Amino acid sequence: MAQTLPKYVLFTLFIFSTLLVAQSHQFSRKLSTKSLGFKKEKVSHFHFYFHDTVSGDHPSAVRVVDTTLTNTPETFFGGITVIDDPLTVGPEPNSKIVGRAQGIYAAASLSEISFLMTLNYVFVEGKYNGSTLSILGSNPVFSKVREMPIVGGSGLFRFARGYALAKTHSVDTTSGNAVVEYNVYVLHY
Ligand SMILES: *[C@@H]1O[C@H](CO)[C@@H](O)[C@H](O)[C@H]1NC(C)=O
Repeated sequence: MAQTLPKYVLFTLFIFSTLLVAQSHQFSRKLSTKSLGFKKEKVSHFHFYFHDTVSGDHPSAVRVVDTTLTNTPETFFGGITVIDDPLTVGPEPNSKIVGRAQGIYAAASLSEISFLMTLNYVFVEGKYNGSTLSILGSNPVFSKVREMPIVGGSGLFRFARGYALAKTHSVDTTSGNAVVEYNVYVLHY
């Protein structure tokens, strides 16, 4: 078939198809991480305390959803809490703030107190100011150490992944306020 077409017809078709490709909008293309300014991937360790204040004059966690199941049995199942909890260098309430945990935790187990954690650590400290890490994990609060995946990040944490280890530091059983120690390991550029 091609052999029967004159050369100038083939040439015209070739030019035409090139123009069509050039004019179409480009949906995807391959890039190197270098071309986006990323250097070597590294691992960083962060250590801080998470202050979950559910009652008192200045709560940073508010229960926004209660269900008929929320208090029966005592797993709070279905309860949803929105938080803006300070993250500090030390466990004391007036310790230096390095960021905040902003997001939601939802009681997601029928058999124990375990939360689905969906939140961002929004950092304010030094070069990390404005960078965030996104957490999506399961938090059975009576386990000694809970591991939650870091599923992404922004700013200095673009392409981040890793894990957070949570260990309860103290709980006030009357107020429900808790301080949790976090060790976070992150792969990022
Ligand atoms: C973090 O950045 C914001 C906005 O750029 C700035 O207003 C703030 O002072 C910075 N905080 C710290 C602790 O450096």
